[in-house]
Amino acid sequence: MGNKTQGSSSKCLFFFFSGSLSLNLLLLYLSFGRQSDRLTWTRTAALEAEAVASLSCSGHGRAFLDGIGFGSSQGEPACECYGCYGGSDCSELLPDCPADADSGDPLFLEPFWMQRAESSAVMVSGWHRMSYQITKGTMLSIELEKHIRKLHSVIGNANETGKFILFGVGSTQLLNAAVHALSYKTLSPAYVVATAPYYGAYETQTKLFNSEDYEWAGDTFQWKNTSDSSLNFVEFVTSPNNPDGLPRHPVIQGPFAKAIHDHAYYWPHFTAIPSMVDEEIMLFTLSKITGHAGTRFGWALIKDEEVYNRMLKYTATNTIGFSHESQLRALKLLKVVLQRGGRDMFQFGYTTLSDRWRKLSTSLSLSKRFSLQKIAPQYCNFFQRIREPSPGYAWLKCEMEEDEDCERVLSGAGIIGRAANVIPRARMILRAKLQFSVASL
Ligand SMILES: Cc1ncc(COP(=O)(O)O)c(C=O)c1O
Ligand SMILES: *[C@@H]1O[C@H](CO)[C@@H](O)[C@H](O)[C@H]1NC(C)=O
Ligand SMILES: *[C@@H]1O[C@H](CO)[C@@H](O)[C@H](O)[C@H]1NC(C)=O
Repeated sequence: MGNKTQGSSSKCLFFFFSGSLSLNLLLLYLSFGRQSDRLTWTRTAALEAEAVASLSCSGHGRAFLDGIGFGSSQGEPACECYGCYGGSDCSELLPDCPADADSGDPLFLEPFWMQRAESSAVMVSGWHRMSYQITKGTMLSIELEKHIRKLHSVIGNANETGKFILFGVGSTQLLNAAVHALSYKTLSPAYVVATAPYYGAYETQTKLFNSEDYEWAGDTFQWKNTSDSSLNFVEFVTSPNNPDGLPRHPVIQGPFAKAIHDHAYYWPHFTAIPSMVDEEIMLFTLSKITGHAGTRFGWALIKDEEVYNRMLKYTATNTIGFSHESQLRALKLLKVVLQRGGRDMFQFGYTTLSDRWRKLSTSLSLSKRFSLQKIAPQYCNFFQRIREPSPGYAWLKCEMEEDEDCERVLSGAGIIGRAANVIPRARMILRAKLQFSVASL
């Protein structure tokens, strides 16, 4: 009987165990079968990120994980409204609000990134690359450098073959790094110049750093006929130019004339790519390619090893390398950009900007008071067709004698623009951004 009992109880046990085994397997399957349920330490972060992304902000704002504002007293992220909107969900249009065409970031690509929420997201662990160095002895992600090279060769805008690549905290850090490298130990202080209208940071930075190796010498116009061929020049050449979107080449020639080529906008959403550029120093920035200005990531392609070493030393001394979080994010974003040969993002950006340009130029063509810069349609090697203009900025001129203060005329019309650094300043030309997420002109 004991045996029998034992036998039946072991049978019971067998059924119990096999039953519980399949139950466990079922539970295992249910809990681990789906990808999302396999998450361990990323789960809370993922839930937080999704919760913030689900706040709608009425399409006139955005909520961020580190956001402040409404509800933040409870530690809850809240909507941050775009200009001219307010209220806890950004649904209130503020009265008498001017269209701010001056400030504003390159947010025109934000919808593209929202459509690619999944492929563009990065998860950063608490122990992600805590060291000063990334790969042994370097501050640069080799994987990111590879993707940058690939990007240039896929887009065909710049020749990366044989070039050194240096990263920067935005390309802003690299502007002065390049001035430093090119003016280092020249016999006389180098004259730093640019052709007006030019991007303001060239002047403000050069003046701020106030080195004995170089000095700001203004518009190239004053120097292009100089008979003194012993002068050292460092010329900023921005192509296409900010603010007028036109192609630019060095103006100052001579044995001691050097150029820094700022190609921030030499990408197919802003301009045609008629050829592959191949210059001594070429600067690029993520801010303008993908629109992630806040990531503060830029890079330089440099031909000469000595110039590269001096610029490297500058950044090493200045910031001891570059944010590893930024490099991680830049890598992820460039991977998305490179999908389908870059077509998706650049086509999206081109369509958005060329639409805005068409609307603006159509409405201004009726006006005698304002004129707009002329940009011709041009063949683009990347799109392999003739493309319409799609500049990042509108370059407006007040045509009437009495409109000497162009900035005021526009602000009277409810538009804030930025006066340009042209000499003379009379009937100033005004720069307005076309890169808004909400078209404001
Ligand atoms: C011509 C040009 N160069 C450089 C920069 C700096 O960009 P970042 O420091 O964000 O890379 C800008 C930004 O507006 C620019 O217009
Ligand atoms: C790019 O640069 C490399 C190295 O100097 C050179 O061999 C090559 O011909 C260049 N390619 C183009 C398309 O200019
Ligand atoms: C430079 O020389 C050219 C040709 O001689 C002349 O037309 C121009 O006015 C000169 N510019 C300046 C700033 O002197």
